[in-house]
Amino acid sequence: MDGLNQSPAEPPTKANAVAAHAAQLRAQLLQHGHSYYVLDAPTIPDVEYDRLFRQLQALEQAHPALCTPDSPTQRVGGKAVDAFASVMHRVPMLSIQTETDISEQGARLFDARVRKQLQCSDADPSLEYVAELKFDGLAISLRYTGHVLVQAATRGDGAWGEDVTHNIRTIGQIPLRLPATAPADLEVRGEIYMRRDDFEALNERQRQKIASGAKNEKTFVNPRNAAAGAVRQLDPQMAAQRPLSFFAYALHFHPAPEVILSPIEATLYGLNKFVSHDQVLHSLKSWGFPVSAQAKTVHGADGLVAYHQAIADLRDQLPFDIDGVVYKVNQIERQALLGMVSREPRWAVAHKFPAHEEITTVLAIDVQVGRTGKLTPVAKLAPVFVGGVTVTNATLHNEDEARRKDVRVGDTVVVRRAGDVIPEVVSVIVEKRLHESSLFTMPTHCPACNSLAVREEGEADYRCSGGLFCSAQQKQAILHFAHRRAVEVEDLGEKIVDQLVDAGLVKTLPDLYKLGFSHLAALDRMAEKSANNLLASVEKSKQTTLPKFLFGLGIRHVGEATAKALAHHFGGMDAIMDASLEQLLQVADVGPVVAQSLRTFFDQAHNREVVEQLRACGVAWSESAPKGRLDLPLTGQTYVITGTLPNLSREQAQALLEQAGAKVAGSVSKKTTALVAGEAAGSKLEKAQSLGIPVLDEAALLQLLEPRP
Ligand code: IVH
Repeated sequence: MDGLNQSPAEPPTKANAVAAHAAQLRAQLLQHGHSYYVLDAPTIPDVEYDRLFRQLQALEQAHPALCTPDSPTQRVGGKAVDAFASVMHRVPMLSIQTETDISEQGARLFDARVRKQLQCSDADPSLEYVAELKFDGLAISLRYTGHVLVQAATRGDGAWGEDVTHNIRTIGQIPLRLPATAPADLEVRGEIYMRRDDFEALNERQRQKIASGAKNEKTFVNPRNAAAGAVRQLDPQMAAQRPLSFFAYALHFHPAPEVILSPIEATLYGLNKFVSHDQVLHSLKSWGFPVSAQAKTVHGADGLVAYHQAIADLRDQLPFDIDGVVYKVNQIERQALLGMVSREPRWAVAHKFPAHEEITTVLAIDVQVGRTGKLTPVAKLAPVFVGGVTVTNATLHNEDEARRKDVRVGDTVVVRRAGDVIPEVVSVIVEKRLHESSLFTMPTHCPACNSLAVREEGEADYRCSGGLFCSAQQKQAILHFAHRRAVEVEDLGEKIVDQLVDAGLVKTLPDLYKLGFSHLAALDRMAEKSANNLLASVEKSKQTTLPKFLFGLGIRHVGEATAKALAHHFGGMDAIMDASLEQLLQVADVGPVVAQSLRTFFDQAHNREVVEQLRACGVAWSESAPKGRLDLPLTGQTYVITGTLPNLSREQAQALLEQAGAKVAGSVSKKTTALVAGEAAGSKLEKAQSLGIPVLDEAALLQLLEPRP
């Protein structure tokens, strides 16, 4: 099992004992390494692993003959090479046909083509598909001989790839030796990728290196780019510093090392061992390869469509990038029957999602003024369809970010929009910069009110110093107050607020409640009916709650949760306005920054005046006696909710937890008390498991909330 030629009958000698010890250490390290890298469930503490590792290293150094290519020590060793050797693939590496129709119709078209060719009726349930994620990384071929990893090659042009074995060995998730249950000789194919969190951390390290003057260092555009760069590093020591991951998705066998098989021959030859692709995935997993848990066997076009939809919903929660899904005919015999056309099998298809990243040009860089006066540089873009919507604006965050990325008017840029995140400019394609252009600088004065723009020591943002004299801040303050999660004035959108403020009709929040029909009817494109609707919405908004009202005031650092906590603690508005710093600090979750911000706000007479006027206009909420610090059953505990619960909506679950005194946070950390997880829970669940944080299902949550005697 240790690969040494050693007969058991031989009498024990010192050399034998050393060899046996090395073999034992190797086996232990492989086992623990698999638990750590692939299963994400370490079985021994890191220091213990390091100790065993160093023991083995020492043994191998003292007895170089004992060092085998599958030794865990070989992951890090490796010398730099001058160039990559070419490797001929024994079975060409194919590409996958991409379904051009990205709507659900794409899945139906594929199913129809397959059924037609196989002469399978729509009703025939024997036709199965395996639906998988389409990982956004790079394809790799791993050859094992005598159970040991002997070669790793990139796809290259499909026939010839590059030998990158030295780098691939550094990836902890890739087994260097296969268990005896696996065939001794095989080729595994799969995708090398970089997790998004690893990518962020890598770029952060790169930025620090650049900041401290390192030459020849750069940040990476996206995880795929960073992964591809790492795999093609000439120096494995460098590659080892780039955190790579792997998913296996295919398996090939070869009749003999020198035989080159066509893909169809290889498929037929594989039939000796496996009849279906899901069996292949299962075996790969059992031999220690990471296989995505999202692969699923499905039936019919409806099964494909449902998978596509489910993964589209899950996409942003996955810890890595995907650009679509792949459908594969499950039965290998049927794969062979379907065959291939021009280097693409007819039994598989890629069904993509709208891209998260696209290329466009910067038409202008504007500076927008936020509610609290924050000045944000925003790139105005030539319209581009990305992440499922047409994007014309992308944030550049602040001066430092804009300069770091060095975005200039006229530049060709990569724009990213993932999930609900605001679109951002990821990077500039500098080679496409055609003209004389200049570095972006922040304006010295507010573009809306011309007050001085100031950037305080230690802050990243410039702020307009005009306060509520600034029309841009007025507009944002009103929109915030009118937001659904604040007092909610339905129908009061940005266009109307712009007009109301520009016409001087509304400057402060109370002005909203002084508007009459004639004011509104005079606005651009405001029909009689809309004017009446808006008046009714303004009227309706008068009945609100203390947390919504407090949140609506737009006090810096006072979000919804803090507003709720304050309302709960003090019970009434006056008590909040009059609370001292010390009293504010007693509220759960209120720290010095928030407390100071509240004090600063209410110390200004004009802000108290706004509250009084709003009350005078009829804005009302119910108040209760101050509760102080309540000891509810879950006070001091923090929960995170993820996935779809069978009965409760997330909002309901959150409300129940908060009523019991718990805090509900958006992301899992060491401080999380427990994770409430439902169907299709993704990265949060993984994180909770890796941190050993308890996971509750809906039933357990309800039990927890049950009143105790
Ligand atoms: S199977 C015959 N499965 O897509 C099919 N490929 O054009 C061989 N890819 O660069 C590939 N996820 O790296 C397969 N689940 C998946 C995949 C996948 C991503 C990539 C692959 C290759 C490209 C194929």
